[in-house]
Amino acid sequence: MIIVQSISKLNAEIEALKSARKTIGFVPTMGALHKGHIELVSRSVKENNCSVVSIFVNPTQFNNPVDLEKYPRDLNRDIELLDKAGCDIIFAPEAKEMYNSEELNNNFEFDFGGLDKVMEGQFRPGHFNGVVQIVSKLFKLVQPDKAYFGEKDFQQLSIIHRMVDVLNFRVEIIDCPIVREESGLAMSSRNERLTATQRKKAVEISKVLFESRNFVPKLSPGELKNWVLEKINAVDELEVEYFEIVYATTLQTIDKWTTPAVGCVAVFCGEVRLIDNIRYK
Ligand code: PAF
Repeated sequence: MIIVQSISKLNAEIEALKSARKTIGFVPTMGALHKGHIELVSRSVKENNCSVVSIFVNPTQFNNPVDLEKYPRDLNRDIELLDKAGCDIIFAPEAKEMYNSEELNNNFEFDFGGLDKVMEGQFRPGHFNGVVQIVSKLFKLVQPDKAYFGEKDFQQLSIIHRMVDVLNFRVEIIDCPIVREESGLAMSSRNERLTATQRKKAVEISKVLFESRNFVPKLSPGELKNWVLEKINAVDELEVEYFEIVYATTLQTIDKWTTPAVGCVAVFCGEVRLIDNIRYK
């Protein structure tokens, strides 16, 4: 496995792979890797000749400077985990390698066709512009045949599919199921910031989501939304930012059960913001 920090070195590696007609699998990450990321890497290793993983805490997708500062970072541990998982190239650039100062002031705008108006987009203004800005740059550099994303970030995944369509990237996006801890808690780098007590409370998020499935179709989506909000908010230290039941492709809220329907939630557990989702139909 090699670790590359500069774009010129990465370009040289990619050029060599392309001339040798090797297929490239790509897993973009912000580091602080957990089992969920490693599943993505393992799948890439199985399905491609070469696997590239980027580790870059992308400043332009954080709308809260405290969240950016507190985002967990542990490059040495990430390197060890990726080596074991069979990764071939780690791309871990500094911010100045990826952005000039004008770009850092974030004037980048993408037409999301409405996918950004709801949920994460509503509560994290500019977040998805930052995600598309970095992922499109990374796709241009890595030129992957396949790129792997986790379904935990359900809205991000929809937006990546749209970005690939609109910008005509020749990459296959592979949607990978949420990886959960034994307790049910969706794996996230942010879980590291939870205290032991908070971690137990955070488990209630997935428990409530799983239980909510039993009420479909007895309760309408609106009634089920209220039930979930009440149940999660009743847990000490948990505060729901949003819970929406949406049509999976348009991300628009539904008022009658249709397929495919997904419930997406963002919850503060103390200061830590967690997201999760569940398929209903
Ligand atoms: O999901 C993430 O970790 C990030 O949003 C991504 C896709 C690596 C872009 O910075």
